[in-house]
Amino acid sequence: MSEIISNQLLQYTADFTSEESLALQGLERKTYKDVLLPNMLSGKVQGRFLSFISRMLRPTHILEIGTFTGYSAICLAEGLSEDGQLITIDINDEREELINEAIQATGFQDKILCKTGSAAEIIPTINKQFDLVFIDADKVNYGLYFDLVIDKVRSGGIILVDNVLWRGEVVDEDGKGKAKMMRDFNEKVLKDLRVENVIITIRDGINMIYKK
Ligand SMILES: C[S@@+](CC[C@H](N)C(=O)[O-])C[C@H]1O[C@@H](n2cnc3c(N)ncnc32)[C@H](O)[C@@H]1O
Repeated sequence: MSEIISNQLLQYTADFTSEESLALQGLERKTYKDVLLPNMLSGKVQGRFLSFISRMLRPTHILEIGTFTGYSAICLAEGLSEDGQLITIDINDEREELINEAIQATGFQDKILCKTGSAAEIIPTINKQFDLVFIDADKVNYGLYFDLVIDKVRSGGIILVDNVLWRGEVVDEDGKGKAKMMRDFNEKVLKDLRVENVIITIRDGINMIYKK
């Protein structure tokens, strides 16, 4: 899934990126076999990127908004410190069995805590300071999620936000719907003096935000 770079180049980046674990490969296969809209899953290249960022930060607390089948949560958990924990939120509870099975297969059952419900309602109830946040849920609420998490991110912490190039459509100034939402979100981040950011053209675009 990318209209930012050619399929050939996309395949090349995947071919020349280190393999993810067998458990993650199995989860991706099961997601494509059994779940609706499987291409919501981050996939190998973005997954390795998430894992690398996490392994560089060695976070104690990670928050993920948008679990889906647990693929990105597992990638992010790979970098957790020994006593670290990742909280992941999803409004949909239909994939619980698949997620739990995948988490067990990776041995992260004591490190990943899944919460079910609306992220906008759950985030304010979490009393933790996060080193790393991954926002990958309903695009309409990205600005709200940023506002809800920014004070919960430590100075020097990172917020990663997915799909910010919206298939390349963000460059269309007359764009509507999700493309417009992403334009508004990227503009909001750029203007916020509490953060610095860089947009990375992996997959559908990741806004990497550093809290000063
Ligand atoms: C793109 S998928 C997440 C993909 C996952 N991060 C991965 O890379 O494997 C987006 C998820 O956000 C969830 N979602 C949508 N609206 C939500 C909300 N208001 N609160 C919490 N989760 C929501 C959806 O159920 C869906 O599973």
